[in-house]
Amino acid sequence: MCGIVGYKGKSDACGILIDALKRLEYRGYDSAGIAVWNKGKIEVARQKGKVDELRKIVADSSFAGKTGIAHTRWATHGTPSERNAHPHKAGDVVVVHNGIIENYIELKDRLRKEGHKFLSDTDTEVIPHLIMSYIKKGRDFVEAVRLSLKELRGSYALGIIREADKMLIAARKESPLIVGVGNGEYYIASDAPAIINRTKRFIFLEDDDIAVFAEGTVKLIDLEGKAVKREIRQVQWSDAMAEKGGFKHFMLKEIFEQPRAISETLIGRVKEEKGQVDFEELKLPDLAKIKKIWMVACGTSYHACMIGKHLFESMLRIPVETDIASEFRYREPILKEDDMLVLVSQSGETADTIAAMKEGKKRGVYTLSVCNVLGSTLARDADGVIFTHAGPEIGVASTKAFTTQISVLFLFALHMGKTLGRISASDVSGYINEIKQVPHKIQSILDASGLIEEVARKYMAYRNFLYLGRGVNYPSVLEGALKLKEISYIHAEAYAAGEMKHGPIALIDENMPVVVVSPHDHTYKKTCGNVEEVISRRGRVLMLTDDPSHEMADRVETFFVLPRTIYALQPILSVVPLQLLAYHIANFLGTDVDQPRNLAKSVTVE
Ligand code: F6R
Repeated sequence: MCGIVGYKGKSDACGILIDALKRLEYRGYDSAGIAVWNKGKIEVARQKGKVDELRKIVADSSFAGKTGIAHTRWATHGTPSERNAHPHKAGDVVVVHNGIIENYIELKDRLRKEGHKFLSDTDTEVIPHLIMSYIKKGRDFVEAVRLSLKELRGSYALGIIREADKMLIAARKESPLIVGVGNGEYYIASDAPAIINRTKRFIFLEDDDIAVFAEGTVKLIDLEGKAVKREIRQVQWSDAMAEKGGFKHFMLKEIFEQPRAISETLIGRVKEEKGQVDFEELKLPDLAKIKKIWMVACGTSYHACMIGKHLFESMLRIPVETDIASEFRYREPILKEDDMLVLVSQSGETADTIAAMKEGKKRGVYTLSVCNVLGSTLARDADGVIFTHAGPEIGVASTKAFTTQISVLFLFALHMGKTLGRISASDVSGYINEIKQVPHKIQSILDASGLIEEVARKYMAYRNFLYLGRGVNYPSVLEGALKLKEISYIHAEAYAAGEMKHGPIALIDENMPVVVVSPHDHTYKKTCGNVEEVISRRGRVLMLTDDPSHEMADRVETFFVLPRTIYALQPILSVVPLQLLAYHIANFLGTDVDQPRNLAKSVTVE
């Protein structure tokens, strides 16, 4: 999740671009860079570290010009370093890129044979080289860019300039990019907050759009070179609203970002055709020696661990023990040298989870963290780290971090299963194919957000909720109940559905909404029995299922149909309507959704 900005106009590009990068700092980054066109020459500066350092370099040197591009990078391919920071240059073409090029290795091999030399470890560097290869074959700048884009697989938001041309070119595919329209000047940005202080007139580029900026004009074409029309929209966003992408709260924005966040988690790691999952960033011990895995975390991240246990045990037949981080070390866990300890944390700074990692290290086990925040303690100090790539999560209630954590655990299970020969390459390909469809399936749930809002209106006045689920959906109802209590302050309890008759059934009457997740899997019949018990006590059932003809469909009060997926991935889908339900109820009740009372985003005390 990098940040991109660009400018073509009448003013000093440097100041505008550095200011725009500063405004994206809240998203996090590890390096930054800038390129400015001046009378047929492009000056480039890039470095590991902060934008303020870049500002100093630019101020001290001969940077000047009215066209430029700039970037903040959050490392995916290659470590954070000056060499890997953007912009990347080949010949006289300079590029900044957000996204991941999946076929960069093939392209690099081909371009190397044509004599191109690569200086970085990034996927991005193939883009300027590819453009240069077309320029060398006699294509003009725009054509060279268009033909190159047609060869890229993966996702991109791009800003491109060239010494021999005065133009700025931008393009997008599955990675956001907007054009800001000023007075005879244009901006590009991956996120509106970067430029909202300069203009409120935007063109929202769509996939496969290419925008060509010349003196005071912009022309949009598609990948076939045909002109496309996009309207200029006037937004009324304040700075704060721009940060929320026009959503009322960060939490809602982050719920809606889940399709993209999961795509980013997958990109670069799944090699479907080879039936492989690749974690370049990971130094692993000998996986064949691992007899047991421990998964330890707090809160929402702990729920992801519970799902991880299901995945590893059912797909790999490796025993997994989960624990709440604040309990783990006090019960003197029997850790053995060949165990693996997986620590899951959005922030990477949760004190109890850090203490659990230290406990594991003290006892000599391999520690692996699953983190969202680069440079955080768990990311730095664990023996290995897998980043979730969810992008900054600002709402206190965790949403996209959770679904990307499940995605990472799923991918890691595939990686381990393939390495140990417990999952065949063709099964890995099948699993990869399933998870690749998840972002589209989540999108279809998000498209029904209005329906869930109506359901929320119907139930917002109740003060107690019960949530029931079985198997892999037990953690998802725990998560749904946690969301409701933390942002709406409504009491919500979740149970494994089979446990209901061991106590909680006493609570059920006409004032108790009961949220039930009941997909058509091996738990179906048993859950039907539980629903029957709730209905006969006049409880109000809200059912989520992937079976439109569920046998309880006509008997429950509210019925919501989820897209179908494999058992292992059901929680990623079933949790999304639960997040939305909690959000809309809290919003109707007028609570402080993004900063609920008594809660902190990162719990750094034990
Ligand atoms: C709930 C929530 C918390 C966190 C928990 C762990 O919405 O956000 O329960 O999941 O505090 O935080 P991380 O994942 O940062 O270790």
